Amino acid sequence: MNNNPIGIFDSGVGGLSVFSKLYDLLPDENYIYFGDTKNLPYGNKSKEELIEISARIFDFFKEQNVKAVVMACNTTSAITYEALKNNYDFKIYPIVQSVAKQIANEGYKNIGVFATNATINSHAYKNELQKVNPDINVFEQACPHWVPIVENSLQEEDESIEDIKVNLEKMMQNYPEKIILGCTHYPYLLDILSRFKNRYLFINPAEYFAKYILEDLENSNLLCTKKADSPIFYVSSNSTQFKISSKLFFDVEQVKEVDL
Ligand code: DGL
Repeated sequence: MNNNPIGIFDSGVGGLSVFSKLYDLLPDENYIYFGDTKNLPYGNKSKEELIEISARIFDFFKEQNVKAVVMACNTTSAITYEALKNNYDFKIYPIVQSVAKQIANEGYKNIGVFATNATINSHAYKNELQKVNPDINVFEQACPHWVPIVENSLQEEDESIEDIKVNLEKMMQNYPEKIILGCTHYPYLLDILSRFKNRYLFINPAEYFAKYILEDLENSNLLCTKKADSPIFYVSSNSTQFKISSKLFFDVEQVKEVDL
C-alpha cells in the first residue's frame, strides 16, 4: 500500500500550484495528476454535475490503485467531498477542510476569500473558518474571470490586469488582514496581484495543505518506502495548452489525454 500512487486532481493547471508544494515536501512519492481541462470551469457548474465529474475521477484513481486522493480543487472540496467521502477506501484530502483549521488558528480577525462562484456560494471557507473561530469576519468574493485568464495564459493582457485590479480594490474596502486565494488557479496571478498590494497579504492554501498531507501520511504510516517513479500527468483535453500554462508551477514534459 505505501508505494501505491497518490492521485491529485483539479479542473486544469490550477492543481499544479498544489502539486508543486506537495512535490517539494514529498518528492519520494508516486503521483498521478489529472487535469480535467475538458470540463473547466468547474466554478460555474451545478452540484449534480460536479458530483458526477468527481465520482468519475475517483473511479479512475481507484483503477490506478491509489493510496490517497488529493482534492486540490477548492470547488470540488467545497461541493462534492461530503457526498463522496464514504464511497472509497483510500484516503481523501479535501483542500478547504484540511487548511481551514490552520488558517483560523493564525489569529486573524478579518480574512478575505477570493474563489470561484461555486465555492463562494457554498460559503465553505467561511463555515470552516468560523467552526474553529466564530469571531473571524470572512469576506467572500467570486472572481469568475480568473480561471480562464490562467488557463489561456492571458495574465499580462490589459483587460486581465484591469479585472484583477478591480477585484482587489473591491475586496480591500473590507480591510482584510489576509486574502485566501481559494482557487488553485489564483496563485498563478500572484505576480500581478503583488503589483498592487504586498505579496504577504495573500495566502496560498497549498502551503498549509502540503504540510497537512505530509503529517497525515506520516501519522498513518503511509509514506512511500522506495524510490518513486516520475509523476504522471493526464488531462481530458488540450494537452498542448496545458503544458504552456503550467510552466509557472511545474515543467510538465509529458502529458497524456484521457477521456473519463
Ligand atoms: N481550480 C479550481 C478550484 O480550486 C476550479 C476552478 C474552475 O474550474 O472553475 O476551485
